[in-house]
Amino acid sequence: MGDTEPKSEKPAAASNTEPGGTSAAVAPTSSPASPVRATPAPATILPPEHWEQVALRADDDDADSTLGDDAATSTASISSTILQYRTIRGRTFHSEIGNAQYWGANDDRHNDALDVLHHLFTLSLNDELYLAPISSPQNALDIGTGTGIWAIDFADKFPECAVTGTDVSPIQPTWIPPNLKFSEIDDCTQEWTFGADKFDFVHIRYLLGCIPDWTHLFKQAFATLKPGGYLESYEGSPNVYTDDDTLPPTSAIAQWGPLFINGGKAIGRSFTIVDDGVQRKAMEEAGFVDIEEKRIKVPSGGWSKDPKEKELGIWAQHAVESDIEGFILFLTTTLGWTKEQTGVYIAHMRKELRSLKHHVYYYQKVVWGKKPGI
Ligand SMILES: C[S@@+](CC[C@H](N)C(=O)[O-])C[C@H]1O[C@@H](n2cnc3c(N)ncnc32)[C@H](O)[C@@H]1O
Repeated sequence: MGDTEPKSEKPAAASNTEPGGTSAAVAPTSSPASPVRATPAPATILPPEHWEQVALRADDDDADSTLGDDAATSTASISSTILQYRTIRGRTFHSEIGNAQYWGANDDRHNDALDVLHHLFTLSLNDELYLAPISSPQNALDIGTGTGIWAIDFADKFPECAVTGTDVSPIQPTWIPPNLKFSEIDDCTQEWTFGADKFDFVHIRYLLGCIPDWTHLFKQAFATLKPGGYLESYEGSPNVYTDDDTLPPTSAIAQWGPLFINGGKAIGRSFTIVDDGVQRKAMEEAGFVDIEEKRIKVPSGGWSKDPKEKELGIWAQHAVESDIEGFILFLTTTLGWTKEQTGVYIAHMRKELRSLKHHVYYYQKVVWGKKPGI
């Protein structure tokens, strides 16, 4: 798997650091595979009217909007208070609880996409669930567990470990390993109530765009960890790059990063966690030591000649393509896009992903650190 870094600066709107964070902080980074200068996606977002002007022709695939086509799978009709989701055009999103502000859909269709992403993430770690040097954990915590798929796999791997998964959406399954429990409606931006020095391992994955203060989050993880326990943070960037000029600035794929970055600004949550080196900085500020990190290059689509990158790219494409709407609808609505503008953008994004003409990639980063004391 490649983890080389582009040669050029990152998109200006994203951050002031290099793609994937400060290069000196990146631990296992190999030499660039290609002398070609990487091209970042544009830093600015196109006005939503652009997508009306470039509506696909009727004979193009996906010309019709995908909006609302999964209303049948919506869980919005469930009447319990905690399941009173907010609904946008037939898609459900978590209800507003405390400070929580989550941008992804929480219905079956999007949950399936999260499970595909879990496969991509474990493949990215060469079939591992984590990189921190833990052994025989007795208590583990997964914050923002989503469908709970990571927590389930972790509980199966360590049957002697009591695993807890938390989330603001009760989307976790009920058939789970006996050593796993999900605590419902637990907003990680509020004060944690697990107690001090309790866990051997705290795992936090894919919470970009959800957290207003990462240092505060990691301080809470620090407090609840036992001395010698580890925190691991796994995040990805919405920014994409190309090494061969196959990223037209007005393409939907080039606009993916600016869309998330601008949407994040509108809801007061950053999506440039990887780009800005936030994970390491927040861990240092929280008091963690022996911090290490690994950056992973992930193509979008199976265009790479490298077999490992190709495999990652196929799964990355599958995850996004299976529910583009569920990834962007909350943010485009927040930004004031119309249903038609969002629908045309989705149709272009899907078409571009399928074409494999755009040789783009993005970065994920895993950072882990130890609570001192042992
Ligand atoms: C992109 S999903 C990632 C799920 C899981 N960590 C994974 O990697 O498969 C983000 C999850 O974080 C949850 N979330 C968002 N804000 C949260 C908060 N303030 N507290 C707890 N969970 C939150 C969402 O409900 C969603 O399930």
